[in-house]
Amino acid sequence: MSVGDYTKIATVKTVERFRSLLEDLSIELPCDDEIIRAPESPLAQPLEVFGKKVGNRFAIQPMEGWDGTTDGRPSENTVRRWKRFGESGAKLIWGGEAVAVRPDGRANPNQLMLLDSTKSDISSLRETLAAAHLDAMGSDDDLLIGLQLTHSGRFARPNRKDRPEPMILYHHPILDRRMELPADYPVMADGDIRALVEDYHGAARLAAKCGYDFVDIKHCHGYLGHEFLSAYTRPGPYGGSLENRTRVLREIVEGIRRDAPGLGIGVRLSVFDLVPFFPDPDQSRAGKLGPGIFESYCDFMPYKYAFGVNEDQPNDLDLTEPIELFGILRELGITFLNISAGSPYYNPHIQRPALYPPSDGYQPPEDPLIGVARQIHVVKYLKSQFRDFTLVGTAYSYLQEFLPHVAQAVVREGWVDSVGLGRMVLAYPELPADCLLGRPFQSKRLCRTFSDCTTAPRNGMVSGCYPLDPYYKKSPEAVRLAEIKKAAKVG
Ligand SMILES: Cc1cc2nc3c(=O)[nH]c(=O)nc-3n(C[C@H](O)[C@H](O)[C@H](O)COP(=O)(O)O)c2cc1C
Ligand code: SF4
Repeated sequence: MSVGDYTKIATVKTVERFRSLLEDLSIELPCDDEIIRAPESPLAQPLEVFGKKVGNRFAIQPMEGWDGTTDGRPSENTVRRWKRFGESGAKLIWGGEAVAVRPDGRANPNQLMLLDSTKSDISSLRETLAAAHLDAMGSDDDLLIGLQLTHSGRFARPNRKDRPEPMILYHHPILDRRMELPADYPVMADGDIRALVEDYHGAARLAAKCGYDFVDIKHCHGYLGHEFLSAYTRPGPYGGSLENRTRVLREIVEGIRRDAPGLGIGVRLSVFDLVPFFPDPDQSRAGKLGPGIFESYCDFMPYKYAFGVNEDQPNDLDLTEPIELFGILRELGITFLNISAGSPYYNPHIQRPALYPPSDGYQPPEDPLIGVARQIHVVKYLKSQFRDFTLVGTAYSYLQEFLPHVAQAVVREGWVDSVGLGRMVLAYPELPADCLLGRPFQSKRLCRTFSDCTTAPRNGMVSGCYPLDPYYKKSPEAVRLAEIKKAAKVG
């Protein structure tokens, strides 16, 4: 088998064959034979979060579409996406999508913002989602809706899609080089950080007024919250020790508790990371990306530039500090976490396992099932250490036909509390409802991880499931995307 020649899940016709595939890859994942419908299904069992009943074990992961207006309001596309999140049948909406707490924190000029000027639009989004859910499922009193608050930090592009305006906390030897940041590029000053904390407080107050049940203080995927966790080399109160690297989180939480006492707080966390990856030049050809290999790190040892990695072997994870972080979160009264990994910018294969890479990525360096299992096992381990926490798991979409079978089994076994669905929901939003209500499973609509929803925004277009969602399939952008993919030979 050559590199990248991995078994396509669509060719695996039975649960038994899927189990053999897992065995061939030495992956241990439980997988049920049959999908049980509600109310008996493990996936139909309620959870209690913030004293409120959450009606089932499916969660919708936050997913932005790069499609808001430039003053931070939702567009028709955005409203449609949120409506579909509601129709999915999942009873936990983890964040909707990343919403910037201030203009310079946007990852693109079309990212939503939560400001006084946008609050009624952000409130309507929640109402639209809840109404669609009520229509589809017959009740919304057991639906929990959060809003993900973010600042994009190193990956901010607030004014032009093609102009990065990074706000960094420390100099990262590999990412700085990739981004062509000079050695004297300024890092955010402590005073700027204090002002940002105020912006989080303001946004959380607005989220409470808009009726959201909770806010997610985003700490994942390379954005600013995540960068704090790896600010080992930053001097002063926000860098160095874990206590300092979590100071910003404590300060944000303190103000939210003071200003919006009824608002729940969750955290989406990249709980482990790896060094950045890039396409192997020896195996890349014109118009053909090579498989991902990790950047050389030997000049930067011990490696102090990533959270949840082994500093002596940074292509390997280490959960020692993440476990300490869980202890800090418990002290803060935060036990509602959504576990993710790495970053879509520098190691997408661990973050969103895919058979086909985005146009600026690399061919998968491992069978994507290994990436799925890595995330599921990390959550299982954390759950075993922190039984009182409610954990949402990530990276299930690549399981495709067998997503419900694995989801049902891992929830029954207590490996995870709620199964988060990302890309699958862009392609086939009704999957949770179909499983729970015993409706026919629509294999033709399954996300096959073609990565168009990532490739499109990387090329300045709105995100969406171009191959499978007729709404995008017919758009003029679909033609442009096909040309880009043809040139990059990625799909
Ligand atoms: C188009 C797109 C947009 C995303 N936007 C966000 C986001 O706003 N916030 C976030 O935490 N994760 C975001 N993610 C990551 C997903 O929430 C999820 O972690 C990832 O897709 C892996 O889960 P999956 O295998 O179910 O797709 C995005 C992913 C995609 C594909
Ligand atoms: S474009 Fe559609 S099929 Fe491709 S990864 Fe995104 S959701 Fe899945």
